Amino acid sequence: MGTTQTSNLPLDPDSTAALAATGLEYALVDPDGEGFEPFLRSVSRGFLGEEPSADEVESARTALRSRRMTGVFDRAGAVPTAPVATVDSWASELTVSPGRTLPLWSISAVTVAPTHRRRGIATAMLTGELRTAAAAGYALAGLTVTEATIYGRWGFSPAAWASHVTVDTRRAQWTGPAAPGRLDFVPRDSLPERLAAVHERMRVRRPGAVPGWEGRWRGIAGLTPDAPDAKKVRAVAYRDREGVERGILVYTIAEREEYTAHELQVRVLFADGDEALAALWRFALEHDLVGRVTAELQPAVPPVQWMISDRRAVRATLTDHHWLRVLDVPGALASRAYAGPLDLVLGVDDPLGFADGAWRVRIDAEGEAAVERVDAEPDVRMPVGSLASLLLGGVRATELAVAGLVQGEETHLAAIDGAFAPAAAPLLDIWY
Ligand SMILES: CC(C)(COP(=O)(O)OP(=O)(O)OC[C@H]1O[C@@H](n2cnc3c(N)ncnc32)[C@H](O)[C@@H]1OP(=O)(O)O)[C@@H](O)C(=O)NCCC(=O)NCCS
Repeated sequence: MGTTQTSNLPLDPDSTAALAATGLEYALVDPDGEGFEPFLRSVSRGFLGEEPSADEVESARTALRSRRMTGVFDRAGAVPTAPVATVDSWASELTVSPGRTLPLWSISAVTVAPTHRRRGIATAMLTGELRTAAAAGYALAGLTVTEATIYGRWGFSPAAWASHVTVDTRRAQWTGPAAPGRLDFVPRDSLPERLAAVHERMRVRRPGAVPGWEGRWRGIAGLTPDAPDAKKVRAVAYRDREGVERGILVYTIAEREEYTAHELQVRVLFADGDEALAALWRFALEHDLVGRVTAELQPAVPPVQWMISDRRAVRATLTDHHWLRVLDVPGALASRAYAGPLDLVLGVDDPLGFADGAWRVRIDAEGEAAVERVDAEPDVRMPVGSLASLLLGGVRATELAVAGLVQGEETHLAAIDGAFAPAAAPLLDIWY
């Protein structure tokens, strides 16, 4: 089991030594210390953002206080207190099947200054994170990525996908269910609490999801200092007939030249149940003076396409979103519920060692898995990244086999597909 406090864990000695050998210092950054501001400036520069204002520094300090922040310092540089590379991590949890979660070592803020790129700094930081997480008992690490080319080399691979959805509202006459509850505009400053409440109920049912945090909700609500478009953020809440708040839509409207064709940009649409989902999508699609609705981080096959007259009014572009890294094979595989029985030996190839070996996976008729290391010839072989992609059932073994990313007899691959079939398609509905 993972620990909840990650910031007290010691720095990884291998990464400390590897960086020291190139004249660099690897150090933890105290959120309440003087090092926090330069750390945040380096992160912002890494993600091509602006210099944060004093208010933003304080707001971020509050939001990130519980994180483990690590910097790499080049003390010979012009500003020795500004890290040339950054990473942060924290104890989160991943929904692995409806109602079941597993501790997750979440990683973010990975940046390397353009002056120090391609010298192995990211490698030292990422492998350091993985060793620290594994030593603390985490079976999985996870992240969301700016580029799909970076993290595969350290054993991460996509495990949940999300669509960017665009709807041409003029073609999208509502044919879906009529929700019996009510919609109301709600004040922006109430959103962090409202979003947290609805999201907390949703995310434990959706494989691939993780909890949000106050700073994430404040960002979506446009409540962080100097947030662009903050004053344009509007929100409506859906309450069911019993008066329970079941969904929230947060959006802005971008004006277009043609006055009846403005664009409603969904910042989040969280729905705890089908009624709220229909009510909020209908609200967005039928909004006056709007010709187009856009929403990111939607299900691969967006349910709204079944709720309108012209399905092709919906364009959904699918991308990988949640990347996972398996650190402990029995811990990761035994955490979820399965759709059917299985009994075979998986051979996992992991150059970093964490998951390497042959693993007997037995899943009983109730869908519970028991996994142990064995000294046996594997029935199916795969690189460690493929195991992460299979874990939540978001991709089939037979699909990965086509690309050579899983190897084994067809009957074994089909057996994995049957057992790993997810109760709901994995989805991560926030960035982290
Ligand atoms: C991505 C980033 C962190 C890489 O840092 P780095 O210190 O240059 O990486 P390393 O020197 O450890 O490189 C490790 C390997 O990854 C490769 N690599 C690094 N960045 C890459 C990229 N963007 N695309 C493809 N390959 C990349 C390197 O070529 C190297 O390959 P090798 O092992 O085959 O030699 C850095 O370029 C960066 O800060 N980018 C901007 C912010 C960002 O996108 N962060 C990621 C957030 S999810």
